[in-house]
Amino acid sequence: MGWNSWNKFACGINEKIVREMADALVATGMSKLGYEYIVLDDCWQSARKGDGTIIADSTMFPSGIKNLADYVHSKGLKFGIHTCGGRLSCNNRLGSHGYEVIDANTYAEWGVDFVKLDWCFSEGIDPVKAYTDMSTALAKSGRPIVFSMCEWGGSRPWTWAKNVGHLWRTTGDIQDCWDCKASFGGYGWTSILDMQVGLEKFAGPGHWNDPDMLEVGNGGMKYKEYVAHFSFWCLLAAPLMAGNDLRTMNDSIKMIFTNENAIQINQDKLGIQGSKIFDEGDFEVWSKKLSNNETAYILFNRNFEQKTYQIDWKKLGVTRNKQMFDIWKNTIVGNTKTTSEFTIPGHSVFFYKLK
Ligand code: GLA
Repeated sequence: MGWNSWNKFACGINEKIVREMADALVATGMSKLGYEYIVLDDCWQSARKGDGTIIADSTMFPSGIKNLADYVHSKGLKFGIHTCGGRLSCNNRLGSHGYEVIDANTYAEWGVDFVKLDWCFSEGIDPVKAYTDMSTALAKSGRPIVFSMCEWGGSRPWTWAKNVGHLWRTTGDIQDCWDCKASFGGYGWTSILDMQVGLEKFAGPGHWNDPDMLEVGNGGMKYKEYVAHFSFWCLLAAPLMAGNDLRTMNDSIKMIFTNENAIQINQDKLGIQGSKIFDEGDFEVWSKKLSNNETAYILFNRNFEQKTYQIDWKKLGVTRNKQMFDIWKNTIVGNTKTTSEFTIPGHSVFFYKLK
């Protein structure tokens, strides 16, 4: 859990913004709820010294990356950084290809706690080798560093990366929309959700599928659509990386990020990724088994219009009477003996757990 600069700031990032975001993660109360990593994404790199050491852009990061990492640590947070497994990053900054050991050691010296390795300009490079090389270099750097693989799913990293990375992207880039498509291959979050089906068996503690960072609060969607997006990322046991401006978000967006019931489901100790158990076109049911004999569910109305659905609990595998706890209302709203009809607004979820 944490925050990453990319979705909101892209290459318009600098040390002042990163520091203020660390401040905001604490001031909003998010850090207390588990949001811990402040990750600086692409565009901080400028050149290499004669010995190959990477140098940060001195206009945007005049105090240097070590100084920035120290600041983030002084707030009780952890610091992450982006690089690329190809020759260049997606924004033409220097990549780590061939420099894995030098870069891993530099990051460790700077106090980096999380490295995201991207995949632009990877021209013919073998992903298994590239990601394994960086994984090995990080492991040998002398500092515990979370390794976030950003290979976009092309080589099906879930089938080979369990012992290489701690998390791996499963798709192209998320966009701040319901189901749009970007020309370079980015997708709205519902399309990304569809691409997670079947991947649940590959995730577990220490090795997670990553459906990409959150777009909650970036302005392209309605409040209820952000609630649905966040609910699903919790049910998927996905990394919860905020990607908005934490300094200026309004109270309703902050309420989404700080819903403790939802976070608890995301962070449940069994680490099971939720999955789709029922699909009737515009209406889907997803579930995630939790510890303490509880199960979380999402009833998902993908239609634009409000709809009423009848739930046959037996079909969902529920045979005993259970209480239904509404994650967003934070209260018991019924039980499976007496409640089977649900009216759900368009583009919305009903997120609850049975206990
Ligand atoms: C790729 C990644 C994104 C982001 C950008 C930076 O598109 O998938 O998450 O890191 O590169 O250029």
